[in-house]
Amino acid sequence: MTIKVTTIQEMQAIVKSLKKELKSIGLVPTMGALHDGHMTLMKRAQSENDVVIASVFVNPLQFGPNEDYDDYPRQIDQDQAFLADNGIDYVFAPSPEEMYSNPLQIQLTVGAMAQVLEGAKRPGHFDGVVTVVNKLFNIVQPDKAYFGKKDAQQLAIIEQMVIEMNHPIEIVGIDIVREADGLAKSSRNIYLTENERREAVALSQSLQVAKTLFDKGERNVEVIENAIKTFLTQHTAGIIDEVAIYSYPQLKQVEVIKSQVFISLAVKYSKARLIDNIILKDEQ
Ligand code: PAF
Repeated sequence: MTIKVTTIQEMQAIVKSLKKELKSIGLVPTMGALHDGHMTLMKRAQSENDVVIASVFVNPLQFGPNEDYDDYPRQIDQDQAFLADNGIDYVFAPSPEEMYSNPLQIQLTVGAMAQVLEGAKRPGHFDGVVTVVNKLFNIVQPDKAYFGKKDAQQLAIIEQMVIEMNHPIEIVGIDIVREADGLAKSSRNIYLTENERREAVALSQSLQVAKTLFDKGERNVEVIENAIKTFLTQHTAGIIDEVAIYSYPQLKQVEVIKSQVFISLAVKYSKARLIDNIILKDEQ
């Protein structure tokens, strides 16, 4: 059974008693509409903690004025059943009124790390993400918290937030879950036509092209970006929306790869914008 908790006060009381029993707590923050990708995070949390708390909260602060906040899927009963089937102990599902005072007086702001990539396209998005994650950390006080590497910029920003806000929490990044042919799993994949689905494997394959070049010693960003673009153009009719290489986790633009970088891809199909990424690390 998964116990549903909707108030901060009740969640804090549960956390207090778990702490008294010296139970370790793993937190998996989500916005609900749970799928297999979330389950990978939950399973890892279960294997490393005595108790797992999943949060389900569609966070209004991270949606821009023209984004799909109102239409975002809300299916808490289905999510609770899914969590119960998978043996998750608690789901924390507060309302926006429970989480935020109105008008909101205080929120966190992210610096340069939020001015690039997804953050550049969605002003204020990462301010909303760190504000809610900071609140969830304060309420749940987990030992470990789990985030997908698919949102690599979000993961880097949250790791920085933990350092700067002094949370005694270990952030665990979970590898991208892929279909058998390498396509990153996403709820958006269902919007692909049959042909687009066949071609979409080109995203992960192009990242492997980049990795092969990197492994052979190529460190010039332009050369690697061009190789990715050429591969994508030859293997899919999807429109290339982004091929970007940034240092990781600093998220600074680089011309020559010196240590660890993150390659971010986005390709637009008729009804879906697919993203993928890879982290490449220089061992020397
Ligand atoms: O990645 C998400 O689903 C959200 O950004 C998060 C981390 C749950 C914060 O609302």
